[in-house]
Amino acid sequence: MPTLSRPAYGESSKRTAVERTIRNTIISLVKGDITHEQTDAIVNAANARLAGGGGVDGAIHRAGGPEIMEACRKIGGCPTGSAVITAGGRLKARFVIHAVGPVYSDGRHGEDRLLSGAYAASLELALQHDLHSIAFPAISTGIYGYPIDKAARIALETVAGFLRARDGLTLVRFVLFSDSDLAVYRQTVQQIAGDREAQDRRTRGPGD
Ligand code: APR
Repeated sequence: MPTLSRPAYGESSKRTAVERTIRNTIISLVKGDITHEQTDAIVNAANARLAGGGGVDGAIHRAGGPEIMEACRKIGGCPTGSAVITAGGRLKARFVIHAVGPVYSDGRHGEDRLLSGAYAASLELALQHDLHSIAFPAISTGIYGYPIDKAARIALETVAGFLRARDGLTLVRFVLFSDSDLAVYRQTVQQIAGDREAQDRRTRGPGD
């Protein structure tokens, strides 16, 4: 009997629960270090100067080597809510997409729109470069202070909306750095599914 072979996307594929699929794309959630991912691209939580820093940004530059910073210097910067792409240097991923999320202040300074923009711009760049798999960290939820539950909903809804409209990606993976962040993402996936079911029921109306 033929077995279905699945592309290998690195060590986390062993720990991956497929949380849901949207059209032809798998969305998965894992706990881990994003620098180990073998997706075509990994996303960096960068700053607008592309100047490097701590957190996941520091880890990516350390693991990928100086080639990534050289490429960032040439690009020069990236507005908050958008993203740029460089080669992946020594990383297993061929590309790094540097996405700039907002610093969270009180939620009234366009943070949601900017965070959503960072995810959408990253996905757009992946398609422009004909990439099929991408791994995201929880952008803005570390040094930039975005509450994880709010950020998870924006990340998951933005990705889901994009995948409903656009073809080309086979895997979008969220790589969370702690058990508690992973738990929030899992819970948010359930909540979004529940919200959609309720909305579908309302649209169909009673007795349908
Ligand atoms: N793999 C996956 N996730 C990681 C890793 C890693 N190796 N290291 C940290 N994280 C997680 C953090 O736990 C957090 O949930 O990434 C998330 C984003 O945190 P930060 O890296 O602090 O990013 P952000 O909040 O967007 O702040 C960006 O920090 O380092 C600077 O240059 C960066 O100025 C920019 C700012």
